[in-house]
Amino acid sequence: MKKQTVKKHDNLINTEQEQIRKIATKNNNIEKINFLKTELEIAANQIQMQDAELETATNRIQVQDAEMEKSAKLSAIGLLSSQIAHDLRSPLAIIESALWLLRQNSLTEEQDDKLQVIGRAVNKMKSEIDRTLSFVRNTPLEIQTCLISNIIQSTLSNINLPKSIKVKTINCDVMIVCDPKKLEIVFTNLFNNAADAMSKSGDLIIEVIEDQNSNIIKVQNSGPTIPKDVLSKLFVPLFTTKQNGTGLGLSSCRNIITQHAGTITASSEPTVFTIEIPKNLASIVEKA
Ligand SMILES: Nc1ncnc2c1ncn2[C@@H]1O[C@H](COP(=O)(O)OP(=O)(O)O)[C@@H](O)[C@H]1O
Ligand SMILES: [Mg+2]
Repeated sequence: MKKQTVKKHDNLINTEQEQIRKIATKNNNIEKINFLKTELEIAANQIQMQDAELETATNRIQVQDAEMEKSAKLSAIGLLSSQIAHDLRSPLAIIESALWLLRQNSLTEEQDDKLQVIGRAVNKMKSEIDRTLSFVRNTPLEIQTCLISNIIQSTLSNINLPKSIKVKTINCDVMIVCDPKKLEIVFTNLFNNAADAMSKSGDLIIEVIEDQNSNIIKVQNSGPTIPKDVLSKLFVPLFTTKQNGTGLGLSSCRNIITQHAGTITASSEPTVFTIEIPKNLASIVEKA
């Protein structure tokens, strides 16, 4: 009887020990699982970080690719336009001298008018060539002191703004030190853009404000406001929203104004392009 009780007791102890061992193994497994989970989380985080780095690197490569493509395009445009400009200059010079010869004869008013129309068209082509070349290469400034209103008038007479666009000049009889031909290219671009933006009719207001150290020229046009995403890209070479645009106009304006040690900025509502040119440009150019 006593022997039997001892055996039962031993069995009970064995079962309990077995259970304790099982629990210990289970706890050990849970610890292992938790450890592996943490390891896995660390690895997942590392993969995520590497993914992000890979994405940044891919983006950088894409930006560099786009820049390379753009600079390749720009240098192709440069070569092509220099060639075209060179080829067009000689026939234009021939037309100009033929016009001069024709105008030495006694002409009827109508004939003279027609020749003047041809003369203006030739000037327009010449300024288009200058405009393109000014984008392609920075020719040195030919500085003069002149009236801003004269440069504006010369620009307006060379471009054909629709009659429905009303031009208003405010305080433009101000002397400025600049390269008038280059400033005319800037005005040509700004006025043409304004005309495009207003499509058929609107107001083009040109105002000069004299600061102590600089002349500030504001070119404002009515019409739709410039969307924010367009506003931030205006001066980027080749950026255009027009079907037949080149996207070279405003970047060429910025090149020219930077050459004048000045700035050109744009704001919306209303659309205003603001040019600032230092009054001491001559001494800046001399020192350079
Ligand atoms: N006055 C303006 N009003 C609204 N948008 C303008 C104006 N001037 C320029 N822009 C915008 O800036 C872009 C770039 O102008 P520009 O460099 O002159 O090239 P392009 O006239 O060939 O498009 C235009 O396509 C247009 O979207
Ligand atoms: Mg333009």
